[in-house]
Formats: sequence, C-alpha cells, structure tokens
Amino acid sequence: MSAKTFYITTPIYYVNGNPHIGHAYTTTAADAIARYRRLEGRSVFFLTGTDEHGQKVLEAADKRGMTPKAHCDDMVPRWKSMMADLQIEYDRFLRTTDDDHIAVVQSVLSRLYERGCMYLDSYTGWYSTAAERFWTEKDLIDGKCPDSGQPVVEITEENWFFKMSAYGDQLRAHILENPGFIQPESRRNEVLGFLDKGLGDLCISRPKSRMGWGIEIPFAKDYVTYVWFDALLNYLTGTGYPVDGADGEWQHTWPPDFQLLGKDILTTHAVYWITMLLALDVPLPKTLFAHGWWVSGDGEKMSKSLGNTIEVDTLKSEYGLDAVRYFLLREIAFGADARFTYEGFNQRYNDDLANDFGNLAHRGLSMTTNWLGGRIPPLGERTEAEEGLVQAARDAIDGLHTALETLQYHKGLEAVNALVRAANGYIEQTQPWALNKAGNTARLQTVKRHVLEVCHVAAALQLFVMPNKCAELLGKLGVDDATAAFRAVRTASDPLALLVEGTPITLGDPLFPRFRELPASIQAMFASEPEPKKPAKKEKKAKSAPPPPAEIEFTDFQKVQLKVGRVQSAEPHPDADRLLVLKVDVGEAAPRQIVAGIASKFAPADVVGRTVVVVANLKPAMLRGVESQGMLLAAGGNAVVDLVSVGAEPGEVVR
Ligand code: MSP
Repeated sequence: MSAKTFYITTPIYYVNGNPHIGHAYTTTAADAIARYRRLEGRSVFFLTGTDEHGQKVLEAADKRGMTPKAHCDDMVPRWKSMMADLQIEYDRFLRTTDDDHIAVVQSVLSRLYERGCMYLDSYTGWYSTAAERFWTEKDLIDGKCPDSGQPVVEITEENWFFKMSAYGDQLRAHILENPGFIQPESRRNEVLGFLDKGLGDLCISRPKSRMGWGIEIPFAKDYVTYVWFDALLNYLTGTGYPVDGADGEWQHTWPPDFQLLGKDILTTHAVYWITMLLALDVPLPKTLFAHGWWVSGDGEKMSKSLGNTIEVDTLKSEYGLDAVRYFLLREIAFGADARFTYEGFNQRYNDDLANDFGNLAHRGLSMTTNWLGGRIPPLGERTEAEEGLVQAARDAIDGLHTALETLQYHKGLEAVNALVRAANGYIEQTQPWALNKAGNTARLQTVKRHVLEVCHVAAALQLFVMPNKCAELLGKLGVDDATAAFRAVRTASDPLALLVEGTPITLGDPLFPRFRELPASIQAMFASEPEPKKPAKKEKKAKSAPPPPAEIEFTDFQKVQLKVGRVQSAEPHPDADRLLVLKVDVGEAAPRQIVAGIASKFAPADVVGRTVVVVANLKPAMLRGVESQGMLLAAGGNAVVDLVSVGAEPGEVVR
C-alpha cells in the first residue's frame, strides 16, 4: 500500500466579514507546507473552506437584508479570490453548507446520541453572540464576554449536551504521552491548565426558536447544531468520511498530519474537537499547531477603523506576491505573535531578497554572461573554498527539512539564506573580477559555476514559499522542470554539481529590485490614513525625539534635480482625500502630472497658477492608481503648511 496522504487543514473562515491578513497568514502557511510535501513527491490533501452557520453569520446576513445562504453564496467568492491571489493550491474548499458535510454532521450526531453521549438539560448561562458561546458568571469580566469584550445576555433554555466531561482524563493522558500533539509547547501547557480546572459538558444545540441558521439535529428537530460542533467536523467530511463511519478510502488521508489554527481557537480544537473524536473512536490528529497573531506596529489589534491594517494587495503590487509570502513566513517564528510595520517589511525585503538572494543571482548570471559566454561553465577543480560551500549547501538542505518537520518556517528559510550569504562571501573571497582580469579562466569558471549552483539550490529549496521567482531563476539557469530540480537537490550526494555544463543561461532583470525607501504608494497610504484614535498614546511616543537624519555627501544632493514649475490645473484624486492631481509646467514640451499630498491644506483652485519647486528626476510612481511624475517641495510634515515657491520661470533649475 502506498504511503498515507499528507493531510493538512486550516480553520474554516467565518463569512461575516472580508478576508484579511490573519486568514491569509494561516492559509499561506498551510499552502507552503503542502507545496513542500508535494515537491517531495508525497500525495497531499490540503483542506480549507468557510464556516457558514451560526448567529454571527445570520446577523451579518440580516444586516444586508439577505437570506443567510444568499449572503454566504455572495461572500464565498471573496475568500476564493483571496486564496487565488495568494496562489493557494488547496485540494478542497469546503463549505459547511455543502450537502456531504450536512450529512456527516447529522450522522455523527445520531451515532453519538445512540451511544448515549447526548442528553437534554435545562441550562442557564450568559451568552455572548460575538464569541458564539455561553459563559458562567465567574468567567465574565466587568459583566462582559472575556473573549470579545462585548455584552452578554442571560439565557435559560433546554438544550442538548455532549458528555465531554467523560473524556477529560483520556485527553489529558494523550497530551502528556504525545509531546508534539499540541504545539508550540506554551499552548500545550495552556490546554493542560484548562483541563486542570475540570472539564464540563458541551452544549451542542441551539433552539430554532432563538437561532435557526444551522444544521438540524436529527433526533431533536426543534434544534440546530451549535456552530462549533458543526464546523469542527469539516475536517472529517473533507476526507470523504462516510455517514456510517465505516472503514474505507478516507483512512488513507486520515488523520491530519497538521491542523493549523490561531491561538484564539485553541480550546475549541484541543478540547471540543479532540473529545468529539474520542467519542467517535476515530484516531486523533498528529499535531494541532496554534500560531500567533499579527498585530500592528504599536501593538494594537488591527482593524479597518483604526487604519492600521496590513494591506496585502498593496504590498503585493509593489513587492510582488512571492515577497509577501516570504515575509509572512520568514519574519517571525510560527507560533509567536508578530508586530507588523511597513518599514520592517521593506527592510526584510531589502536584506534577504534584494541584497542577499537577488544580488547573488544577478552577480552569478551577469558575470557568467559577460565573461564566460553565457553558458554554465565546467565544475573544474575544487579547493577548500568550494568544499566549504558544498557543506553549506548540505546544511541548508538539512536545516530546511528539519525545521519544516515542526513548521519552523523562519528557521528553515534562515538556513537557506545562510547558504546564500556564504556564497556572497565566497564571491568576495575569490574575487572573480580579478580572476577575469588576470585571464585565469579555469578558476573563474569554477567560481562562477559554484555561484550558479548555489542559486540553483536556493531557488529549488524556496519554491514552496516563492513559487514564481524561484521558478524564474531556475529558468534563467536553463532548468525548466522546477519539481525535478527540487528533488535532485533534496536527494543529491553533491548538491553543487547538478547544473548541466554548456547550458545557455539568461541574465534578464534583477529578481528583487532594491527599494531605497518605502514605495510611494505606501507612503501615500500613510498620508491619507485617518487620524489615530488614541492620541494620548501617540503623544507619549512623539516625546522621544527621532534620531537626526544621517549626513549625506554633496554628490548625493547633486543627484536631486530641482526645477521651478507652474501649476496649470488641479483636481481631487479619485481615490484619496488627501491627494490632488496636478498638471505642472516645468519648461518641458508637455506638463508633468504630479500627485501631491496637499489636499488637507489646499483646494484645487488655491494652487492653480502658483509657482512651485519640483523634484524633477524622481522615478515615476503610482499613487493610489494615478501616475505621479515628480514631487512638489512643501513645508510641514504630513500636515502641509505651505508650498515652496520661488520667483522664477518654469524650467529654471533650483540649487
Ligand atoms: N470559524 C472559526 C474557525 C472554525 S475551524 C473549525 C473562526 N474563524 S475566523 O475567520 O474568525 O478565524 C479564522 C482564523 O484566522 C483563526 O485561526 C484566527 O486565529 C485567525 N486570525 C484572525 N485574525 C488574525 C490575525 N490578526 N493574525 C493571525 N491570525 C488571526 O475562528
């Protein structure tokens, strides 16, 4: 029999709002590992989808004046398109309104009922709509839901209960005997702590009279299933689990190798879900991995109203999808919380991708093109330096592999980057330019061949995170079959002897162009962000004076071309309140279009006819979808005070 299918799941996402970075994060992490296993030749089943029942979704539908199903049908394409944009290669997108899922939930309920695991009882508790669950009086914080901080209502009603308490000891024993079952370690301890307090039973029904949007309970037709009991079973449905629970094909996929989840839904997975499986007598997943949360740079939870969300689309259009995927997985340990800043993103991009990986590739390809006829040179004779590089390549291959066994993406990618840095160091050490000058072709060939071999290894190893750029680099090295390249690298006894001598290479553009500063579209985003909601906190920060800017050389300043211009026309930007779109005469054949962040101070009519000073040699940039061909000098920071004006004619140079 062939090896078990590698099975990985993400949580299924509530369709009460639009997808955001948190959802993108879990899904990208799952996709990366699924790709890695597929590259290795494993059969993989990667399940994701949407959680469509329950009060939250019902309320979202009500607000839009839609039926819940129509609302879900309208939302699902947004999730699918978010996933397509991130190049997520899932095997099934499951909706909890899918017929096969409804059948599984109802059959599981019936089976557990027949086995005596369900009972009816009267229950009084404090119900939080936001968290979709009951709390006891002592759980509440200031009378509100401890998870969401939202108000709760006291409800007494008859409901169906699952005898979860019966499985507490078994669950605890399993966690203790299997150290890798709940990862990271801190989360495992959290669950053990939760179990120490004693496990109660789980209310798994909602009376239709109160909340009818859910899967009907077959033995109690006035009730629908509690949304979590329904949703968690998606992981079984996805495998083709039959309604009678009999042995079959599904066991080729089951149990999950990894179930990814955010730390906020640890209890529902580690306790509700696992006790459900124990009651069903189904083998348990191998690992539940709870990752951390992305928060904004100031530690605030991200929200649209605070204007501190991570705009994945903007990052993608400026830096490319591969860089976004790389950043999400490289920047922090999977499991830890992460603070996001655009500066941090830019820095990581420049350090790892532009200066290390991209630079290595460009150096390797350009020197080979310019000095060695643009073909893969012979391997030649190795010295200690090359042997060292071979060892570094082996370390990278093993390091990545070991790190991914426990989803330590950041460590794995760092292992690859260590190889890339070693190869950049090797170039400095071997000085190919000197070899070229001295006409030492044999040695030059050996050096360049090893640089290109490292590019090959680094590209193959990082395909699972950066499928486009790495395939592009492999193509430039004359390697068309990326999967074969990965397998060759993974299994080779000498990973730096895999390219084919004589194969033509292609130089092309740099893979990851450097960003000296944040792209203009991101800077403009800040210029048009709403005022911060918490001025007190911001003021405190403002007190610590920013460090003075670094000194520059006169020659640096000379690079900036300043010219006098006259504003011919001005109109509001179609998509940003703080921006104006100007036509400015700078003494050229046609006026320049310049997008300026000055609308907070000037109405369009205020600036028409004014002389201004324009940075004339600034690279054109798209600002919220409108091209800007220069920049105006203005006094003030984000809040503009005045424009710089001079009494001279358009086109005059300013120094
Ligand atoms: N529907 C449930 C899961 C049911 S699984 C059987 C749910 N959905 S959710 O859409 O609210 O959240 C899905 C996942 O997104 C959770 O794992 C959550 O932790 C994650 N994230 C939401 N915001 C996040 C960040 N800001 N950062 C990282 N992940 C976070 O819960």
